[in-house]
Amino acid sequence: MSNSTGQRKNSFSTGWQCPSNIALVKYWGKHGNQLPNNPSVSFTLSEAATRTFVTWEEDLNTDSPGLSFLFDGKENRAFESRIRKFLDAMSVEHFPFLKFGHLSIETSNSFPHSSGIASSASAMSALSMALCDLELMISGKSVSDVLFHRKASVISRLGSGSACRSVYPVAAIWGQFAEVPGSSDEWATGLESGVHKVFHTFHDDILIISPEEKSVSSSAGHGLMENNPYAPARYVQARAHTGKLLTALREGDLKAFGKITEDEALTLHALMMCSDPSYILMKEGSLSVINLVRRFRSDTDIPLYFTLDAGPNVHLLYPEEFEEPVGQFISSELRPLCHEGRIIRDRVGPGPQKIA
Ligand code: PMV
Repeated sequence: MSNSTGQRKNSFSTGWQCPSNIALVKYWGKHGNQLPNNPSVSFTLSEAATRTFVTWEEDLNTDSPGLSFLFDGKENRAFESRIRKFLDAMSVEHFPFLKFGHLSIETSNSFPHSSGIASSASAMSALSMALCDLELMISGKSVSDVLFHRKASVISRLGSGSACRSVYPVAAIWGQFAEVPGSSDEWATGLESGVHKVFHTFHDDILIISPEEKSVSSSAGHGLMENNPYAPARYVQARAHTGKLLTALREGDLKAFGKITEDEALTLHALMMCSDPSYILMKEGSLSVINLVRRFRSDTDIPLYFTLDAGPNVHLLYPEEFEEPVGQFISSELRPLCHEGRIIRDRVGPGPQKIA
């Protein structure tokens, strides 16, 4: 490609697909620049993903990042302004090359934007993987896989906290935790090799109870932890849960896994209820699903467990071998509680994929 003076311009392109993740031990409460108040652990999903293609074209006549942005092939001012702010911040310390060129981003989600599924984790991790890839292409350098993912995780975290866990396959921990070498508050660490095979094919059916925007955003929710009287006890509990969950994940202990996962989901929502001001993000349908799941489990002994994000939708977690009976239960008893019968059938997945 040539510029107006006929010289060739440097141009580099890449594309990444990144999944969302579901927290088992929840990150809730932060300090400093998106640093967590407790360690968190998540499964990486596969179906709920973002695909992002980027092209960077050198322009030595500018010193501020240029941007064109398309979401699902169309302009989207709200997303664009969030991305622009993020890129401006990243160009200062992490990616100086952004200042000397124009970045074109085309992005789309595999799930509808209004489905009630948080897209920021998959969106920010896909963009971060792409930016780290571009940086290497432009510099001609190479780094180890560990360092590449670590930097992508740091950048994802700065974009949207929990996104930092999406850059690894199967499962990840974010937050310094003595038992996990290399773990840090600044980046997530992959747990794939420490996870029993039963969890590698785990299902996560996401029941869409309501697709509406949350009445209180996650960032406001993190903020309310500062004055929550239960916050200190919560951070102690989260550390204890992290240790126990890592053991359950390693040993394939489904009962311990389910107990911790459900405790975590209910604690998260209890913390919201006793924030000041108090708020409730669960809906009647969320509670009905929880009660039906517990009844199904005690009637059948099938290890079906629930968790929730900061919203009303319920994630159902279970081993692959129970796909059929769980599927029947969902169709007959739970689907009627979902908004327009909507369910996203997801599962634990292989993490980010380079697609261009
Ligand atoms: O990453 P944020 O700021 O959207 O916060 C995510 C909070 C939870 O989804 C509730 C928990 C988590 O660890 O993902």
